[in-house]
Amino acid sequence: MKAQHPEFEIYNQGIHARSNVSCADCHMPYARTGAMKISDHHVRSPLLNINRSCQSCHAFSEQEMKDRVEQIQTRFTESRDTAMNALMELIEDIKKAKAAGAKDADLKAAWEAQRRGQFFIDLVEAENSVGFHAPGEELRILNQAIDAIRKGQLAIPARTSR
Ligand code: HEC
Ligand code: HEC
Repeated sequence: MKAQHPEFEIYNQGIHARSNVSCADCHMPYARTGAMKISDHHVRSPLLNINRSCQSCHAFSEQEMKDRVEQIQTRFTESRDTAMNALMELIEDIKKAKAAGAKDADLKAAWEAQRRGQFFIDLVEAENSVGFHAPGEELRILNQAIDAIRKGQLAIPARTSR
């Protein structure tokens, strides 16, 4: 299973969507060329252009806005890595259990947990803002992933896992 570009769905769970701030407000901010006001069509990271992308609404320095984004992204990255490491451990445990003679039926719950955990991690990873578009929601999804993965490890019958 693969979530393909779920930016819109995730962004919708965040404070900016709730405040009617659109994708274009941050990613296609207004620019002046001569006497004309146009929207910037270089759709890219707003951090390359904090002045026009963020400071139109936020009265903090460029450095402060950058630091706020980085704080959100650092928390996201740590939680994502915790979830990914857990997923690798589950896969390792499934491999060991198979080598020790586990039957498919013994591993059904663990495989389902792997699928669930993998999908949730990919969902937030594939939305490309490193947690910024909806920080709380993205950490909630990673929590769900970790919970499913650890339950999957517990569901492997003891006699086959070691
Ligand atoms: C409040 C501002 C804001 C809004 C609204 C917003 N984004 Fe973003 N977006 C960001 C920030 C900040 C990043 C992280 C950029 C970085 O890490 O360099 C980002 C990253 C991205 C990226 C990855 C860009 C890259 O260069 O890595 C994509 C794609 C993206 N957003 C799409 C969208 C879409 C689609 C929407 C609307 C559904 C949206 N964004 C709404 C601020 C916003
Ligand atoms: C069109 C206006 C607008 C733009 C553009 C905008 N924001 Fe916001 N931002 C808001 C509003 C509204 C809120 C909600 C808080 C409030 O009501 O003051 C908010 C909240 C935030 C928060 C707090 C999030 C939270 O979960 O509490 C951060 C961080 C933030 N913005 C960063 C950015 C960054 C970085 C950019 C540029 C990439 C940006 N904003 C662009 C209007 C905007």
